[in-house]
Amino acid sequence: MASKLTKEKVGIIGSGLIGRSFAMLFAAAEYEVWLYDIEKTQLSGALEDIKAQLKELDSLQLLRGSLTADQQFNNIKTTDNIEQCVKDAVFVHECVPERIELKTSIYAKIDKMLSDTCILATSTSALQPSKLAANIERKNRFIVVHPTNPPFYAPLVELVPSPWVDSDVVPKAKAIMEKLGQVPVILKKEIEGFVFNRIQSAVIKESWRLINDDVIDVEGLDKVMTAGLGRRYAFIGPFETMYLNADGMYSYADWYKTMLEGIMASFREPVNFLSGPELDQVQSEMEQMVPMDTLPARRNWRDKRLAAFAQLQKQMDDAEKNK
Ligand SMILES: NC(=O)c1ccc[n+]([C@@H]2O[C@H](COP(=O)([O-])OP(=O)(O)OC[C@H]3O[C@@H](n4cnc5c(N)ncnc54)[C@H](O)[C@@H]3O)[C@@H](O)[C@H]2O)c1
Repeated sequence: MASKLTKEKVGIIGSGLIGRSFAMLFAAAEYEVWLYDIEKTQLSGALEDIKAQLKELDSLQLLRGSLTADQQFNNIKTTDNIEQCVKDAVFVHECVPERIELKTSIYAKIDKMLSDTCILATSTSALQPSKLAANIERKNRFIVVHPTNPPFYAPLVELVPSPWVDSDVVPKAKAIMEKLGQVPVILKKEIEGFVFNRIQSAVIKESWRLINDDVIDVEGLDKVMTAGLGRRYAFIGPFETMYLNADGMYSYADWYKTMLEGIMASFREPVNFLSGPELDQVQSEMEQMVPMDTLPARRNWRDKRLAAFAQLQKQMDDAEKNK
């Protein structure tokens, strides 16, 4: 008689924005997902939200994986018992608010409940793994898996291992994320903000400076990204852009090095960054473009576009593979 296949178990701690999105991703990849939260209402809210999202994705034919929406939903269980969430899990993903004492207190609690081979991951946006894992026994299984929000629609995850990590953790975490359909990148060392938020911060910093200097308005600045840089960056990064915009890197350097060095030398620190009258100005210009009472609808609009874009990318990738 064929042995019954059991699904691998994943524990997710925290059922907010990121935790519920990961729950959907793991469920679509046919894991048995246990979602834990200290707030029971968060858990019931997460289930309602996931059900509604799966229904909508199904109607738009944008579901991930090959399971039906109901099968995916049935792969997700909730619990208010942390041991039930993490015991015998192959992967535990902590997704609680960005406070180091909160995260480390959870690791201390679950340290002895985890199996020896379980990978303990955190969604932290900026906390360093050497600080988060310093005092736990399972520091050799600890890794940052930093998602892009919303993870279901934007697939990049940054993997940043703890300094004590076993050699199998990074390749296993990478393989699991790929199974989910995410796109993992591996950081070779810890750095403040990891890579995603460092690049994003550089863009925000110069954008603020250009508003300070009254070079352009907020709407125009955002269009530079959405109709210009962002169009290319959706499928080629800054290095491939340089490579293609000339005849490889050496010719790019010949043609543009002096120009770029001149621009970079003119960069200055922003004034009243995220504060003062400049903050009032940006808020007021944003309100003209997206009134505050339309934020939920606008987020939904963003997520649908991201999902449709992901589907278009997949169709083009599949067509290329099948050539
Ligand atoms: N939202 C983003 O844009 C984004 C992007 C990338 C990474 N992150 C990171 O992901 C993590 C989670 O962020 P989020 O936006 O999902 O937060 P959130 O506030 O939406 O959700 C956090 C959840 O954790 C629960 N929680 C709080 N204390 C808990 C405890 N002791 N045990 C179990 N559950 C607990 C809360 O009830 C809530 O449901 C943070 O570290 C954040 O920095 C967030």
